[in-house]
Amino acid sequence: MTNPESKPPIVFLSGDRVYLRPVEVSDSDRYRQWLSDPEIRRYMRSFQPITDKMEREYIESTASRPDTITLAVVLKDGDRHIGGTGIHEIRWKDRCGTFGIFIGPPECRKQGYGTEVTRLMVRYAFETLNFNRLDLVTYATNARAIKVYETVGFVREGVRRENVFIEGRYVDELIYSLLAREYFKHTQA
Ligand SMILES: CC(C)(COP(=O)(O)OP(=O)(O)OC[C@H]1O[C@@H](n2cnc3c(N)ncnc32)[C@H](O)[C@@H]1OP(=O)(O)O)[C@@H](O)C(=O)NCCC(=O)NCCS
Repeated sequence: MTNPESKPPIVFLSGDRVYLRPVEVSDSDRYRQWLSDPEIRRYMRSFQPITDKMEREYIESTASRPDTITLAVVLKDGDRHIGGTGIHEIRWKDRCGTFGIFIGPPECRKQGYGTEVTRLMVRYAFETLNFNRLDLVTYATNARAIKVYETVGFVREGVRRENVFIEGRYVDELIYSLLAREYFKHTQA
């Protein structure tokens, strides 16, 4: 039963099963928990322990940065916060930026949420922000992420050979991008 005292959710972007809302400092413990999980860390740049203070400051500083848009991923069913997404290193003159995503709870991965979130963010980038290009970097070992990005239409444009060191070995970084004309060609087909 809905609590009449509870605040209505802030829905910034809405999909079938998830919505995206602003990240709040009160989310910081969940972010710390997820970004400490080796299953997530091995696919992200983060490798150092994150203190409460660091995470709170990161959330606060990101909210006011003009080159970054971050959003929390929430399940419509139960308003459960399950991850984070964002567009970073935005260059407004060049109308481009770099996409990122993670789904935190292990049982929430491989349920189609990552694909849904990626589609929402791609649409936001091209249909709201008027981007010309959205890119991303992933690791050659991250087959699940590669599947999501290729499903949504990202094109592999390059490889940075052995650019990251993960769990004792060097791994290739893959660069993907999607251009506005490619996005609109598919949406208008
Ligand atoms: C990568 C991530 C965002 C994807 O989100 P998700 O909700 O798990 O992904 P989805 O369920 O939407 O889609 C996963 C796809 O990968 C496929 N897949 C799963 N395991 C796979 C594997 N080992 N090899 C290839 N494909 C695989 C699934 O079948 C599914 O494809 P389908 O929709 O055609 O069936 C999520 O798994 C995650 O947060 N991982 C840890 C952090 C991370 O890697 N972030 C991205 C950094 S670039």
